[in-house]
Amino acid sequence: MKALEGIRILDFTHVQSGPTCTQLLAWFGADVIKVERPGVGDATRRQLRDLPDVDSLYFTMLNHNKRSITLNSKNQTGKQVLERLVKSCDVLVENFAPGALDRMGFSWERVHELNPRMIYASIKGFGPGPYEDCKVYENVAQCAGGAASTTGFDDGPPLITGAQIGDSGTGLNLAFGIVTALFHREKSGRGQRVLAAMQDGVLNLCRVKLRDQQRLAHGPLTEYPQYPYGSFGDAVPRAGNASGGGQPGWIVRCKGWETDPNAYCYVITQAAAWPALCRAIGKEEWIDDPEYATHEARLPKLEEIFETIEEWTKTKDKFEVMDTLNPVDVPCGPILSMKELAEEPSLRATGTIVEVDHPTRGKYLSVGNPVKLSDSPSEVTRSPLLGEHTEEILRDVLGYSDEEIELIWGSGAIGEQQKVAAE
Ligand code: COA
Repeated sequence: MKALEGIRILDFTHVQSGPTCTQLLAWFGADVIKVERPGVGDATRRQLRDLPDVDSLYFTMLNHNKRSITLNSKNQTGKQVLERLVKSCDVLVENFAPGALDRMGFSWERVHELNPRMIYASIKGFGPGPYEDCKVYENVAQCAGGAASTTGFDDGPPLITGAQIGDSGTGLNLAFGIVTALFHREKSGRGQRVLAAMQDGVLNLCRVKLRDQQRLAHGPLTEYPQYPYGSFGDAVPRAGNASGGGQPGWIVRCKGWETDPNAYCYVITQAAAWPALCRAIGKEEWIDDPEYATHEARLPKLEEIFETIEEWTKTKDKFEVMDTLNPVDVPCGPILSMKELAEEPSLRATGTIVEVDHPTRGKYLSVGNPVKLSDSPSEVTRSPLLGEHTEEILRDVLGYSDEEIELIWGSGAIGEQQKVAAE
């Protein structure tokens, strides 16, 4: 049995943040009903298309295992259908711009009145405060949540990271909030509101930088590349590739770096593994030299130390560096390209990278469920076509008769009826 079997989700999400949340819930077995605007659908169906007239990878990779119903929530009949959906589902998930759902007539108060057991889960850019009315996308959240100001090199501008920590990160938070509220409902019998703000989600992931902000009041951040020759201002500076933990680390070049942009490896000079690292790079004399033997002695010399390590890593490819350092417990990691990840057999074996077949696009790769449950394995199925399950949901979930469904089609609430050509 799937962990969330029996839980039905009214999925009013679009773009990336909300869909990542409901996709996770679907992977754990929830019945996710994605409500989309007739004829249009989630905007990402058409964004960054690689093939003409086919749902984009952007959409297909964020909406697996869901069903799609088209419904105009501003149409009178559409509102009645939506009310019935609210009464039939356990959770409503949305990431509209602030106030959009209220304007549709489905405020928390109204939904709670219609279905007191319903959990009403929202992603917004900001929590209550001066920016609560703003529309927000990924990179805005990265900037407003502290990630951009602390990412990059000291002599360069703030940088955005490729990991979608604002969107997919907040989707994870919301999914966690929803299952927690479902657990609470088991005892209380009541639904509640769940809010995950993207700024809060990014800041949560930048926790160590708020730690460093407070350490800064008591002296320089000795593991940062600015120490000992650079200067510190009154805010945490960008630390390049320095480790966020107590163990200094850096990205060093490996064999082939002149032509391969990913011929690099991250190496950590963990105190416990220092002698092993010295032996591996041919600097045995550093093991007992008081100038290098202790963590404190090494801190002002990190630049020179990593340059020396790099002289050695440049003689080996990144996998040889791993093969040499891992057995002697020196933490290190190769910089893997998307191409290498896509082709990695072990990720295919665990279902972290999956191949999915789609009726109009054909086969494509996607990232599967990153969380594995031993009794509730995830199977990734394709994303729905726009409105593919409209009639099925009206009939099987909402209990409308054939005559009523005809009337709903006629009202324009669910879009244009697709006529099936006679054989
Ligand atoms: N039927 C009828 N109308 C519908 C509908 C449906 N099925 N689905 C959506 N709409 C309407 C909404 O009611 C809204 O109308 P209104 O402005 O008249 O109230 C309109 O479509 C647009 O919705 P909105 O959410 O404002 O979309 P947008 O494209 O302007 O903004 C975001 C997109 C992502 C910026 C915005 O939704 C947002 O800030 N969301 C919260 C933060 C977030 O999740 N950001 C990350 C996105 S990856």
